Amino acid sequence: MLMRYQRPKGTADILPGDSQTWQFVEATARQLFANYRFEEIRTPMFENFEVFSRTSGDTSDIVTKEMYDFKDKGDRHLSLRPEGTAGVVRAFVENKLYGPETQKPYKVYYMGPMFRYERPQSGRQRQFHQIGVEAFGSDAPELDVEVIALGMNLLSKLGLTHLRLALNTLGDKETRDNYRQALIDFLEPHFDELSDDSKVRLHKNPLRVLDSKDKHDQEIVVDAPSILDFLTPDATAHFDRVKASLDALGIAYDVDATMVRGLDYYNHTIFEIMADSPALGEGYTTVLAGGRYNGLVEELGGPDMPGVGFGLGVERLVLLMQAEKVAIPNDHPLDVYVVGIGDDTSLETLKLVQAIRQAGLTADRDYLSRKPKAQFKTANRLNAAYTLTIGDQELANQTANLKSMATGEEVSVPLADIYQDFQNVVATQFTAK
Ligand code: HAM
Repeated sequence: MLMRYQRPKGTADILPGDSQTWQFVEATARQLFANYRFEEIRTPMFENFEVFSRTSGDTSDIVTKEMYDFKDKGDRHLSLRPEGTAGVVRAFVENKLYGPETQKPYKVYYMGPMFRYERPQSGRQRQFHQIGVEAFGSDAPELDVEVIALGMNLLSKLGLTHLRLALNTLGDKETRDNYRQALIDFLEPHFDELSDDSKVRLHKNPLRVLDSKDKHDQEIVVDAPSILDFLTPDATAHFDRVKASLDALGIAYDVDATMVRGLDYYNHTIFEIMADSPALGEGYTTVLAGGRYNGLVEELGGPDMPGVGFGLGVERLVLLMQAEKVAIPNDHPLDVYVVGIGDDTSLETLKLVQAIRQAGLTADRDYLSRKPKAQFKTANRLNAAYTLTIGDQELANQTANLKSMATGEEVSVPLADIYQDFQNVVATQFTAK
């Protein structure tokens, strides 16, 4: 029996039709990133395992359950990247971009596949794609807000409405040390009722328990102390400034004091932009998320240099755009369909489509020896602006018939003119009358 191959679980083929939406998303993002003066960085799709294990946190789901890690033939422990930030920070340090030669903040963006061994469902895959930004070298709360504003701006440019910005702060180290102890004190009396994951995390990283997916864990943490009651004066000042800057830009937000993130490197501002869509199940789904990660550069061997950024899940974004029926512009409409009548015209037809393309227009022709009627039908179906028809008679006369599909107007044009300057032919032939 013939072997049937299937794509690996949790992956997707993005086919023509859908890839147009992806290109629109990417082009819109690139344009907007240029407006905000972020430049592209491209880092490898795999890194040394430690790049992720040191940064994501050894109690995080990403490290404990979801890494695509492996030994290569040289016995190196590598991992496909589960997210973009760690690799960018590694590159920032390795290339000494923290030095005085680079402008601060150092602002970069990236787009590409990420890999997490998760249970696939709508909007969740094992190979998924992120568009992300990172900005290094400034502690200013206004920079947090620039990053958030960029995220909001991007999503609304892409046609998403019903967005909700959830905001929280994890404060500085002192804040978290104090809060951590308070959480442990609160959770310890419930130890026996906690899920196995949460039992392990209680002493290693109690904040993780707040993010537990377990129903009973969630009931317990409802009454947990709030991190907002443990902020140091510095952390409070930073958070107040973030809120004031969002207010100044007219960006609405909800402070969600119970929000924690799935990655351990955050401090101070964390945020999630959620969209309401039945397409992705009940309620709000997080489409874009990020925050500040002061200390991460140092963690990977660089100087003490702050950072802030976000990651946007492109699969979720595309599902939301489809649900909102966002219109995708057709960037490559068909200018000319060349119709060849009879086998003898095939060579000339080939030269004609090539000449039209070299003149900077889009052109296509038949390669299946279809009858003229079928070729015209194809031209119509493809929405061609013009047809250029050549049969034996025209070939003998060294002409072709150019027809405007919009007006039905048709003119006979010397092949020599077409080969010399097709754009000029189009511009002059139909306006003269
Ligand atoms: P994250 O919250 O782990 O953050 O992921 C960001 C976004 O990626 C999520 O909100 C979601 O839309 C998408 N995403 C995550 N996992 C999957 C999946 N399995 N399938 C489909 N989409 C997914 C980060 O990754 C951080 N690096 C963001 C960041 C950048 N923070 C600072 N700078």
